[in-house]
Amino acid sequence: MINSVKSPNFSIAIMAAGKGTRLKSARAKVLHQIGGRTLLAHVIAAAAEVVEPRNIYVIIGHQAEAVRSALASTGVQFVLQSEQRGTGHAIQVLKQHFAANKIAPPENLLVLSGDVPLIKPETIAALRDFHLKQRAAMTILTARPADPSGYGRIVRASAKSAQVKAIVEQKVLKPAQLNIAEINSGIYAFQTKALFDKIDKLENKNAHAEYYLTDVAALLVAAKQKVLALPGTDATEVLGANTIAEMMQLDAAMRAATAARLMANGVSIFRPDTCVIDATVSIAPDAIIEPFVQLLGSTSIGTGTIVRSYSVLKDAQIAENVLIRHGSIIDRSSVGAGAWVGPYANLRPQSDIGPGAHMGNFVETKKAKVGPGCKVNHLAYVGDATLGANVNIGAGTITCNNSGLAKNPTVIEDGAFIGSNVTLIAPVNIGKDSYVAAGSCITEDVPADALALGRSRQTTKPGWAAARRAAHKSKSA
Ligand code: UD1
Ligand code: CA
Repeated sequence: MINSVKSPNFSIAIMAAGKGTRLKSARAKVLHQIGGRTLLAHVIAAAAEVVEPRNIYVIIGHQAEAVRSALASTGVQFVLQSEQRGTGHAIQVLKQHFAANKIAPPENLLVLSGDVPLIKPETIAALRDFHLKQRAAMTILTARPADPSGYGRIVRASAKSAQVKAIVEQKVLKPAQLNIAEINSGIYAFQTKALFDKIDKLENKNAHAEYYLTDVAALLVAAKQKVLALPGTDATEVLGANTIAEMMQLDAAMRAATAARLMANGVSIFRPDTCVIDATVSIAPDAIIEPFVQLLGSTSIGTGTIVRSYSVLKDAQIAENVLIRHGSIIDRSSVGAGAWVGPYANLRPQSDIGPGAHMGNFVETKKAKVGPGCKVNHLAYVGDATLGANVNIGAGTITCNNSGLAKNPTVIEDGAFIGSNVTLIAPVNIGKDSYVAAGSCITEDVPADALALGRSRQTTKPGWAAARRAAHKSKSA
């Protein structure tokens, strides 16, 4: 937690009640995902680095229950703004919440927007520290993005002064104000008393008939209170996500930053712009990631491992020097050092592939422990199964784990050799160093060192085909 200034009496409000009309989406804006998690989860994570979650008040309204249940585990407080009448109204509702629940308002309040997801904890802390040091009534985090259109603009008292006169929303900019490059990030620090004195005095005489939190700036200035602008260091950090296109730009920015960090750490990522890598993924130096790879969730990848194109790994633990060939899917599973996977392997949850094992093309596993050095090279299904060391599974072999009533286990001990196209009817146990003949249907346990044949004997009828052709010919003549 970043706590350079001792200020126990500091809380954070996150405004997240709006519908996000500009998205044209049925889903609440703050539940849209970028970089692998929701906009609101990003903002809460940053806020929680600065104050304790119990001192974070998330103002929810549109799809309130969905938002609440998605973020409940973060431990923040939720405040319901059942009608969304603007950002100023959101803070009015927070004031009423404190009063109704006899909560002494914090001395200072940081206000964040749920749709400004790239904000960094260091920046929030810097805003807090500046605000406290300056003893301002309101401090606005500002930026100068390449394209300021759509944002509220900062009208300063004079070019050189940090003192602000007003925040003017895009729609009501006067012609002379159109070229103001400094925008309001939607992130502020307030002395709570100064804020709450003015918040109920807002008017909604504007295009949307909404109460704008931004109008508090001019009200405070009129009351001779100190309103300051603090320019942030990085404009991309405060970009808003009002449309799907803007969100996808933020997603790309976030993933580009992740890829850059990994590459700086010695990972080769070819065509990083084509890869989708969550910020939560860890990759050791000297791993190689080919184009069009997705690495998601808590995935970790060891040194020297190669992930070839079109593979998708989610919550996968991959050790060192593994080769994951094209188009493989690995979900909530692990792969040991030096193993090979794919092309086109599908390792479903709880697959635990041992070191040096080969899991080849069109192999599917689920809840499977595959021992070191096993070879499952082609077209097999291994589910609810435990394979010892150096087991060979022939092409087309499947574990029949589902009896229709229950999932049953298959155990194949060290060194067993299962031929091609074997049907293993679980529950069944194949002993150490035994052989199962190709094409067998195995319903009974096989002891160690045995050969099991479970197929009908072949009958061959010499000349049968020629005789049939001859009979057919004489009939049609
Ligand atoms: C707001 C600012 C604008 C600033 C921009 C930065 C106002 C009036 N304008 O504009 O100056 O440049 O953010 O991104 O504040 N919300 C509620 N309840 C409501 C309305 C909104 O909780 O009744 C929430 C939204 O869910 C959103 C945030 O407040 O997370 C900002 O609202 P939004 O409508 O996106 O404001 P902008 O038009 O982007
Ligand atoms: Ca916005």
